[in-house]
Amino acid sequence: MYRLMAALFLLLAATLAASAQNLVIPSYWLNQRGSEMKLYSWGADGTFKGVYINHAAGFACQNTPYDLWGRAIGSHIKFMVIWTNWAADCKSKTVWQGRVRGGTIATRWILTGHDFPPLRGTDIFQQQP
Ligand code: BTN
Repeated sequence: MYRLMAALFLLLAATLAASAQNLVIPSYWLNQRGSEMKLYSWGADGTFKGVYINHAAGFACQNTPYDLWGRAIGSHIKFMVIWTNWAADCKSKTVWQGRVRGGTIATRWILTGHDFPPLRGTDIFQQQP
């Protein structure tokens, strides 16, 4: 019985590991606004870390790297940037949520801040060589 449970556990772990492989890390991405996303390292349970450089017209906190935290399970992905670094503090945060399909990540995002109502939009990221 113990051996059967151990075998089932290993099978489950292997299945989860395989399903988490939709997202390749390390990887470098650009979205349709020209923003850059660099994904560096996996953590436990499908979590990952990277940096985000915002180049989107009409937004603040541009052109310097901000820490990014995320989680990917199978094709589902969610990641977040708090817009505070050594260069600027926009007192805001963005959460993206979407799907990874090959070299494309299609997302919806919500930007929340101290002094403006939440903003929503979509971003499509393409993996770069
Ligand atoms: C701010 O203006 O408060 C911080 C910068 C927000 C940049 C947003 S996040 C969603 C959208 N996609 C981007 O690449 N940049 C903008």
